[in-house]
Amino acid sequence: MKPANNIIVIFGASGDLTRRKLIPALYHLYKNNQLPDKFAVLGASRSELDDVSFRDAMRQNLIDKENAGGTTLDDFCTRLYYQSLNTADRDDYGKLVPRLDALHAEYQTGGNTLYYLSTPPSLYGIIPACLAAHGLNSENHGWKRLIVEKPFGYDAQTARELDATIHHDFLEHQIYRIDHYLGKETVQNLLVLRFSNGLFEPLWNRNYIDYVEITAAETIGVENRGGYYDGSGAVRDMFQNHLLQILAMVAMEPPALIDADSIRDEAAKILHSLHPLDAEYLKNNLVLAQYGKGEINGRAVPGYRQEKGVAPDSSTETYMALRLQIDNWRWSGVPFYIRTGKYLPLRFTEVVIHFKTTPHPVFNQRAPENKLILRIQPDEGIAMRFGLKKPGAGFESEEVAMDFRYADLAENNVLTAYERLLLDAMKGDATLFARTDAVHACWKYVQPILDYKANRGAIASYEPGSWGPVEADKMIARSGRVWRQPRKA
Ligand code: BG6
Repeated sequence: MKPANNIIVIFGASGDLTRRKLIPALYHLYKNNQLPDKFAVLGASRSELDDVSFRDAMRQNLIDKENAGGTTLDDFCTRLYYQSLNTADRDDYGKLVPRLDALHAEYQTGGNTLYYLSTPPSLYGIIPACLAAHGLNSENHGWKRLIVEKPFGYDAQTARELDATIHHDFLEHQIYRIDHYLGKETVQNLLVLRFSNGLFEPLWNRNYIDYVEITAAETIGVENRGGYYDGSGAVRDMFQNHLLQILAMVAMEPPALIDADSIRDEAAKILHSLHPLDAEYLKNNLVLAQYGKGEINGRAVPGYRQEKGVAPDSSTETYMALRLQIDNWRWSGVPFYIRTGKYLPLRFTEVVIHFKTTPHPVFNQRAPENKLILRIQPDEGIAMRFGLKKPGAGFESEEVAMDFRYADLAENNVLTAYERLLLDAMKGDATLFARTDAVHACWKYVQPILDYKANRGAIASYEPGSWGPVEADKMIARSGRVWRQPRKA
């Protein structure tokens, strides 16, 4: 079912995210006839643009990056509008009122409005209050929803403050905190794989699982985002949100119902069950490191401290690895190893479930390990690894694979994360958005890492194109294990 007619107001419309993700996502949805019959986009930001120049810029980008063209592109672009606005000035928001009134009337939206905050985070608390000052938060005439980009807060306290500020003018049901990893098809597939198959779920616990690895490896560095990244680092940028959300999907109990609250209740329970961290534990189980100068895929790259926008003596981490535990019935005693880093040799995000080996070595040798590999990106799919007999005499076993790849499905036209999430927000489905309790549980869990970061000494370094610092190998080796390093295809 298509969403109801609505207007999307994008704050930060002249920014990078709008150009790279939001407008292309809306264009694809439009092309696939998934948007409401009547909808328009109103871009708003400080840049002095008008409807025509905004349309031209978006059109050119769609032509260059998405190979767009024809009447679909023309029709789509007629629905783009722009309002220049001093986003920090409450009075200036008065300009939005007649603009939105006119668009709502023209597109017969009944007042439905989706506000997208794609601005620097310093404005996340300001924009909602400015909208409210002009009555633009009122649901008396159509729904009003607010999508808030990450980072939601900077630490536990600022996240709480931000929540309180936004809640002053918007109710929780109006707030959609985006975590684009939850929009990835394969992250959602974790739930379907687990809860619609009799095969896996009986094994999905401490009795059969030895340990779990979650990896998000990137081949890019901080690119042109040094200014933002230096105040953030891998812990805030990837772990506090994306990786903990994936962890919740892997570890949660079956929800009572498939709806936003039931699923988010289970996710929150896992986040509340994470074994609390302290400095003593982190000394042995956390590795933070920063890339130095080097070469990746034949390209010379500067060290992190030489990147634009980064302090020359920065100790911000571009790599992190953590061994964590979940204190509940299902997972007691099962370690989860989580790592993420920039400038690693391969781009991939995966979850690896390592099953325990057989209780007794019948064939007088150590049997290959059984693994279930959930590949979130790229080359989305699921692979099983287990032992079978080596052909020939004797009973020697070797590891074999059974692979499923999404690309092999006849119907594999999956929505990208932003397409899925924009559509869900228009439909009022908050299942794949982080609820306030989950966000706070994540920050609460992560806070000791932030404190530890602030007080520890020099940061370890790793070479671009390597699998990260040796300290991370040593950390996992302490329990006799090694990280899975997929090979280049
Ligand atoms: C973003 C981070 O949230 O996720 C980036 O800010 C990171 O630093 C990106 O590169 C990774 O997303 P994806 O979808 O490319 O895995």
